[in-house]
Amino acid sequence: MKRTSVTLKDVQAVYGGPEADLWELVMGEQIHAGGMMSSLALAKSAGIASGMRGVDLCCCLGAGMRLLAHTYGVRMCGVDATERMVEEARRRTEAAGLSDNLEYRLGDVTDAPVKDGEFDFVWGEDAWCYVVDKDRLIREAARVLKPGGIVAFTDWIEGPRGLSDDEAARINTFMKFPDMQSLDGWAALLEKHGFQVKESVEIDFAVFVDLYMQMLTTQLTSDALRILGNDQALFEAMGAEMEFMRQAAHAGKITRGRFVGVKKG
Ligand SMILES: C[S@@+](CC[C@H](N)C(=O)[O-])C[C@H]1O[C@@H](n2cnc3c(N)ncnc32)[C@H](O)[C@@H]1O
Repeated sequence: MKRTSVTLKDVQAVYGGPEADLWELVMGEQIHAGGMMSSLALAKSAGIASGMRGVDLCCCLGAGMRLLAHTYGVRMCGVDATERMVEEARRRTEAAGLSDNLEYRLGDVTDAPVKDGEFDFVWGEDAWCYVVDKDRLIREAARVLKPGGIVAFTDWIEGPRGLSDDEAARINTFMKFPDMQSLDGWAALLEKHGFQVKESVEIDFAVFVDLYMQMLTTQLTSDALRILGNDQALFEAMGAEMEFMRQAAHAGKITRGRFVGVKKG
C-alpha cells in the first residue's frame, strides 16, 4: 500500500512553518517546479483568457494567481487550508495592487468554501499531491465549475517505472504527501467526475530536483541552515531525502504531470 498516514494537520504544519520558507528559498514564491514557465504552459494548454473567473485550489502564497491576473486579466479566488499562507497571500496581493481582482479564503479544498457553478476554470499547481482525499477534490472541482468549465493542474506523480512500497513510503513521508497519483490515476478520477480529459502528459521534473540540490549545496547553504535554526544534522538528513528523490526522479519512478479537463454538459 503506497498510502501514508499523513493528514491535513501535518501538511498545515509544513506550510505554517520553516519548511515552507525552505521551499520558497529554492523555488521562489511560486512554490512549484518550473515557476512562471510551467504556469504559462499550463495556461496555454487550458486556454486561459481575459475576463475568465477562476479558483486556485491550494493557492499557497497566491503567486500563480498574481501571474495570471497580470498576464491575462483574470479574476480569481484562492483557497488554502494554511492560515499563514492565506494571510501572506493577501498581504502580497495588496502590495501588488491586485486586491480588486484576487481574493483568498481559508478552507479545505475537499469541502471548498465556494458556490456551485461559480467558475470558468479551476487551477492547481504541484499541490494536489498533498490532498488526502483526491476523489473528493476532483468532485469539488466539478461542482464549482460552470458546464464547459476547465480544470487545469500540474502535480507530482508516480513515474512510468513505478515506486516500490518502501520507496513510495520514504518519499511521501518526507514530502508529507498522503499519496501520489499517476498519469492514468488522475485521468481516471477526472473521467469519473464528468470531465473530458484534454491533456494528461508527463512534464519535466528530474532537472528541477538537480537544480534545487545544486542551489542548496553551492549557493544557498547558509540561508537554508538559518531557516532550519542552524541545525546541521537536520539539513543533512533533509539533503539525504532530497538525494533519494533525485535518484528516483532520474530513474523515472517519480515525475510531474500536466492535466487539463473540460466539464461535460
Ligand atoms: C506546494 S504548495 C502550493 C503551491 C502553489 N500552487 C504555487 O504554485 O505556488 C501546497 C499548498 O497546498 C495547501 N493544501 C494542502 N492540502 C490542502 C487542502 N486539503 N485544502 C486546502 N489547502 C491544502 C497547503 O496549505 C499549501 O499551501
